[in-house]
Parts: sequence; structure tokens; C-alpha cells
Amino acid sequence: MSLKEEVLRLKEERNAVILSHNYQIGEIQDIADFVGDSLYLSRMAKESAAKVIVFSGVKFMAETAKILSPEKTVLLPDLAAGCSLSDSITAEQLRAWKAEHPGAAVVSYVNTSAEVKAETDFCCTSSNAVDIVRRIPASQEVLFLPDMFLGDYVRRTTGRKNMHLWTGDCFVHTRMRPETVRRQRALHPGAELIAHPECGCTTEVIPEVDRILSTDGMIRFAQETKDPQVMVATEIGILHRIRKLNPDTEFVPLAPDAICPFMKKNTLEKIRDSLRDNQYEIELSREVMDRARKSLERMIS
Ligand code: 13P
Ligand code: SF4
Repeated sequence: MSLKEEVLRLKEERNAVILSHNYQIGEIQDIADFVGDSLYLSRMAKESAAKVIVFSGVKFMAETAKILSPEKTVLLPDLAAGCSLSDSITAEQLRAWKAEHPGAAVVSYVNTSAEVKAETDFCCTSSNAVDIVRRIPASQEVLFLPDMFLGDYVRRTTGRKNMHLWTGDCFVHTRMRPETVRRQRALHPGAELIAHPECGCTTEVIPEVDRILSTDGMIRFAQETKDPQVMVATEIGILHRIRKLNPDTEFVPLAPDAICPFMKKNTLEKIRDSLRDNQYEIELSREVMDRARKSLERMIS
């Protein structure tokens, strides 16, 4: 039996679904029940009738699935699949920041630990961060964390002055700088540029129009574009799906070395092991889950 057949058999036996983030390797995306961005996968985790969820992504995503569906078994195939951005703020640091700004609304990007979510008023993803901040009364201060580039993008888009940013970043996206854009534009004149808001180049991209999009936003754009060449500024795992969806456009990575080693911890073998040996189960305290769920439900609604 091939590895792929083994995974499918185990999935059936265990009444499981496989969720794959857009950055996973092609063979995982191809076998997954759902492929998408953080927001979409959180929704699927909650809506699915399956008893077991194998989350082929990183730890904060699997934790999010568990918080939303505490009765389900949520498995992360490799516990070392962390996230540098999520690690950039702890619950203790957030509590200290909140104490400096009493009454402020806390908006956390979904790339945060369960403990940080438990200290949060509104969770957001890159696809709904602007909408969420717009809904907070204009007079209320906002603490936005942990990604400073996404936060800066939201602040400029909403024009909000009373929004404070945590200075965290993703070590994969932060390296895509304005000079990276200039270098690649010289090599690909006329190509449209689409960028994830975590990128360190968003200050350069916004004035030049182009597009700041979540990973699913990029996928939707790629499906519809008639442009002959598009530069894609995010982790290169996304190119697998994008190229399949639109073989007529040439999609060029802005940074061909933009690879998230955490996302790439997952393999088909580890997904098989995870289903077979029930590993590694996400376990969180009831108290943390109950508090974190409130901010996540606001994000999903
Ligand atoms: P998306 O929510 O756009 O999928 O991004 C998640 C992520 O980790 C980006 O690095
Ligand atoms: Fe975290 Fe960056 Fe990897 Fe996304 S690409 S999971 S933000 S380290």
C-alpha cells in the first residue's frame, strides 16, 4: 500500500479530516480535505463533523482548532512546528502592556499562543484585521499585536491614530524588504506584485498600489488575474496551488528562499504517524480555552 493510500485508509478509520495551510508542501495539500488560510481553516475545524482533526500547519493553528472544537481530538503531526511571530509575545508581556493602557481594546493576530488569545478582546487574521479594527469605537485605544507590519498596514488603511503596535515580526516575511522589491522589479518589469501583510516591504508596496492580501486573498486574485506575470511576496508553498489554478500566468516568488521551516516540519509520513499513533494531541486547560474562545468567536463571526 502506498503512503498516500495508508493515510486515506487511516483517515477513514478514524473519522478524521486533514486541514492543510496554504504553505504546506504540494503532496500534503493534494491529500488534504481542506486547504486554505488561517481564517478558513479555523472555520472548517469548527464546522466539520469529524471526530479527529489533523492540522498540517503550525502549533497556534492547531490550538485554535482545539479552542473552537474542544470536544474533538486535534493532532499536530510535529510539535516542533512553531511560529517565530507567535513566539514574539507572551501572555505575561501582554498583561504588562495592557496595564500601561487601561481600557484599550486588544486585537491579536491569530498567530498567537492560546494563553495570549485568552488575554485578547478580538482575534483577527490578515483577511479581516482592517474590518475588526474599524468596528472598535474611534475613541477607544487599540493595542495591536504581534506583527508590526500587519499592524502598520491596518493603521494606515483605517487612518487610526490611537492604535499601538507590538514590534513582533515573522522571520520569513520580514526579510522581504523594500530593496528586495526594487531588485525584483528590475528583473521583472511590468509584473504585478501581490504581498502578504506580514512582509517587511509593505511600506513600499502600498504607495505603488499593487495588492496586500492574505494567503487566500492571493489565491482568489491568482484565479482571476489575466496578467502575464505576477510576483508573489510570501512563503513559497503557496505557489503550488496558485500555479495549478492559473497555468496561463507566470507566478514568480519575490524571494525564492522564503521558506518557513516550521511549516515544512510536516510531511506525509508524519501525518500517517499522527493518525496511526494519535500524536501529538493538543491539550489546553479549560480555563484558557474558554477565555480564548470569546476572542476567536468574534473573529469568526
Ligand atoms: P494567513 O492567515 O494569510 O494564511 O497567514 C498565516 C501565516 O502564518 C502567514 O505567515
Ligand atoms: Fe509563523 Fe512566519 Fe512561519 Fe507564518 S511564515 S507560520 S508567521 S514563522
